[in-house]
Amino acid sequence: MSVLIIVESQFGNTRHAADAVAEGLHDALGGGAAVEVVDAADAGPQIPAEVRLLLVGGPTHAFSMTRERTREGAHEQGATAHEPSESGIREWIESVQARPDVPVYTFDTRVKVPGLPGSAAKSALKALQHRGFQHVERGETFWVEDTAGPLKHDEIDRAKAWGAELAGHVSG
Ligand SMILES: Cc1cc2nc3c(=O)[nH]c(=O)nc-3n(C[C@H](O)[C@H](O)[C@H](O)COP(=O)(O)O)c2cc1C
Repeated sequence: MSVLIIVESQFGNTRHAADAVAEGLHDALGGGAAVEVVDAADAGPQIPAEVRLLLVGGPTHAFSMTRERTREGAHEQGATAHEPSESGIREWIESVQARPDVPVYTFDTRVKVPGLPGSAAKSALKALQHRGFQHVERGETFWVEDTAGPLKHDEIDRAKAWGAELAGHVSG
């Protein structure tokens, strides 16, 4: 039994959140469960058969998931984690072979600006449903202080707590 977390992070904040979610899941599930965090740029199109829960998360860019041109924008603002041409979660979702049986939760990071619409988690949910996943829910948004981060105070604790909560959704 395992949990797979596919994550994209240009400045590192969504990755920190994903690692904390994984820690919460791991602590709650105990030693018998494998919880793996894989960068979208390195993830293949096949979801391993043993995966019982899938999480997909990335930063919100231009009200949605990143695109190559918004990743170029991140680079211009100092992001070093990836080359803009490397796949993000949008490209991974477009390539993945759907597993309609596996529950999926999406998550994202955003800056907290009143009235600013759009969320990578919402866009990812729609794209995953379009791809053929049948049990997709929108999970958490983790807030960053600014474009480059850091995550706001308490977001790591909230990410761990969400991971622990999600452990209840993993079937043997
Ligand atoms: C080109 C670009 C567009 C962005 N657009 C939005 C946006 O529409 N809404 C938002 O809340 N944050 C926006 N942001 C801020 C990102 O959400 C923030 O950089 C991200 O959460 C940091 O996560 P990361 O460290 O994992 O890349 C944008 C950032 C960049 C670089």
